[in-house]
Amino acid sequence: MKILIIEDNPADANLAKEYILDSDSENIDISVAEDLQQAVDLLNSRSFDVLLTDLNLPDASGDETFKTISRIAPALPIVILSGNDDEEKASALVAEGAQDYLIKADFNANTIRRALRYAIERKSLVMSLEEKNFALAQAQEKLIYAAKLESTGQIAAGVAHEVKNPLAVIQLGLESLMAFNEKNPDRDETEAKILGRIQTALDRATGIINELLDFSSDTAFEWEYGNINQTIERAISLIAPQLEKSDIAFETFFTKKLPLIRMDRLKIEQSVINLMINASHALETVADKKIQIKTDPVCDDTGEIVSVRITVEDSGPGIEPEDKPKIFDAFYTTKEPGKGTGLGMTVVQSIIKFHSGTIQLNESELGGLRVEMTLPVTYHEDLTN
Ligand SMILES: Nc1ncnc2c1ncn2[C@@H]1O[C@H](COP(=O)(O)OP(=O)(O)O)[C@@H](O)[C@H]1O
Ligand SMILES: [Mg+2]
Repeated sequence: MKILIIEDNPADANLAKEYILDSDSENIDISVAEDLQQAVDLLNSRSFDVLLTDLNLPDASGDETFKTISRIAPALPIVILSGNDDEEKASALVAEGAQDYLIKADFNANTIRRALRYAIERKSLVMSLEEKNFALAQAQEKLIYAAKLESTGQIAAGVAHEVKNPLAVIQLGLESLMAFNEKNPDRDETEAKILGRIQTALDRATGIINELLDFSSDTAFEWEYGNINQTIERAISLIAPQLEKSDIAFETFFTKKLPLIRMDRLKIEQSVINLMINASHALETVADKKIQIKTDPVCDDTGEIVSVRITVEDSGPGIEPEDKPKIFDAFYTTKEPGKGTGLGMTVVQSIIKFHSGTIQLNESELGGLRVEMTLPVTYHEDLTN
């Protein structure tokens, strides 16, 4: 047990020391500081298990001593040595967090040793309680966040349902107007242009509504065993025409003969498309535009394939480490309105979670972002392709 005594009166310090050293059971190491400054120097250079301090030091009041020590060594249990005349002050400090106080006039070997031992035990209980409270507060925060997300999802789904039908009606009306205008012998070009613009805006609105519906996971999952490479190929074929226009070099590295994955094929397809759209947006600011998609198996210690990993990475600017935790937040976007809703990554994460998979963000060797997703293998079967 390492003990620090702060006491300017050498006689008192020696007496305390003697009483403590009387105990034979323990390995005891006592240091004495004559004032607060010396104590601070010692505390900064070494660790102690418990502190015994006089209330009236040459360079500080009891209050100052207590506050200074608590600040630089918050986990150190403090026992106050008080004279008869300042017992009140000593007990006030106990209320503030000191572990105990001993009155000099009536302390002895027994009381002092017991006080020190109890002080250490109580303080460690207090510290572990504080740690647990902290963990509890964090867990609570996560729950509140989850509940918020849940209610945002429900509101989003409600609104999306309400808006989806009128949008469909507008779409039908627009189509008949377009057909009407096309058949019209004195066809009006301005009208055709306006109708075209309405169609573009309508596509955007419908896109956002569909994203909101996906976000709320309101649409049921359709489970089937599927080939992950084929699923990604399909996603690529849907998005590739767009990518070719923007000069992006696109590479795939598929591991063949991966086990089948139990998945909702369309949802996984949609996740890969979301990641590729994000990558293509990120590539707008760089000259060397590359996107790579890989699939490979993840094995356990025995060499058995436990999951399949899908990696999508790009040569864009990537993301700052401090922005990483925000990427999955609903409605977090750095894009201008109309281009991003901030729901893409939230949707991808929830889809992967529904598949009991994992999703991780890392730096890509290409310079940008690397998104790694794993989907668990629940059924083994070699594929022949
Ligand atoms: N490949 C990427 N490279 C750099 N930043 C990215 C990438 N993917 C996502 N981000 C960042 O994460 C944000 C959230 O993405 P997302 O949820 O898909 O919403 P949105 O694309 O609508 O903004 C983006 O606005 C962007 O700042
Ligand atoms: Mg996106």
